[in-house]
Amino acid sequence: MKKTVVASKDIPQESIRILQKKGYRVTQTGSLRKAKGAQALLSVLVDKIDEKTMDAVGPQLKVISNMASGTDNIDMAVAKKRGIIVANTPGILTEVVAEHTVALLLALTRRVVEGDSFVRKKKYRGWKPDLLLGQELQGETLGIVGHGKIGCRVADILQKGFGMKVLYYDIRRDEKAEERCSITYTSLKDLLKQADVVSLHVPLLPTTLHMIGEKELMIMKKTVYLLNTARGAVVDEKALVVSLKEEQIAGAALDVFEKEPKLAPGLATLQNVVLTPHIASASTKARIAMAQLAARNIIVVLENL
Ligand code: GLV
Repeated sequence: MKKTVVASKDIPQESIRILQKKGYRVTQTGSLRKAKGAQALLSVLVDKIDEKTMDAVGPQLKVISNMASGTDNIDMAVAKKRGIIVANTPGILTEVVAEHTVALLLALTRRVVEGDSFVRKKKYRGWKPDLLLGQELQGETLGIVGHGKIGCRVADILQKGFGMKVLYYDIRRDEKAEERCSITYTSLKDLLKQADVVSLHVPLLPTTLHMIGEKELMIMKKTVYLLNTARGAVVDEKALVVSLKEEQIAGAALDVFEKEPKLAPGLATLQNVVLTPHIASASTKARIAMAQLAARNIIVVLENL
């Protein structure tokens, strides 16, 4: 009998075609709770896959393949208990997310969004020496929080391309990387105290939830820029709004939000933020590669049972 894969309605057709070619029966749905009888689920990061979903799908469920590098939308403990394999698509996103992180940083420090809106609103009346002054990055200190593939690549681009000094914090210290890449390990507290730019690259886990809250924002420099292309809930968004409003920090650029697509009250009216709608991995190349890998992950699991 053909094995059944139920895919989220948003999964690109590249994925579906790979699975169909291999002889799987694939259907797409707006709710994976309706995937009763499936051996595999092909999900995107907005599909919440909790115990109830796994119950609704049934005990034949063998693999959940998430088209994302994060797995925070899936109850990993329940999946593990049931022997369901959870697959994701890391690695493929490294370049695209690192590039977006740098784009956000430059948008913030060079006031690109403000400048664009200024011109469009016909406020531009001619060159002035003090018009929309920004900050340069050369010689400034970058603090990378979470030195996985993406954090490492962001550090690399900003060190080699912009002459930034790099501090990093991770639960695991990587002495080889320190030597190879001339980066310095610090505690989170020291990193937050010293960095001119803090960039977050940790997964969302119980231990990283609100890792940057009121206390952490208070110890950062008043001139610091905070970048988040990881997961919204790593930052206490309400505390961030207060901090930005009171100019306790200079600015923030966020691609992810705590309760997407909702924003914390007051965030969107602030001048010192740049906001993008969770598009750090949104290049055509990356999204197709993610879709293909997510499909192949299912095949690897189901063919090796
Ligand atoms: C994007 O945020 C991803 O986890 O793939």
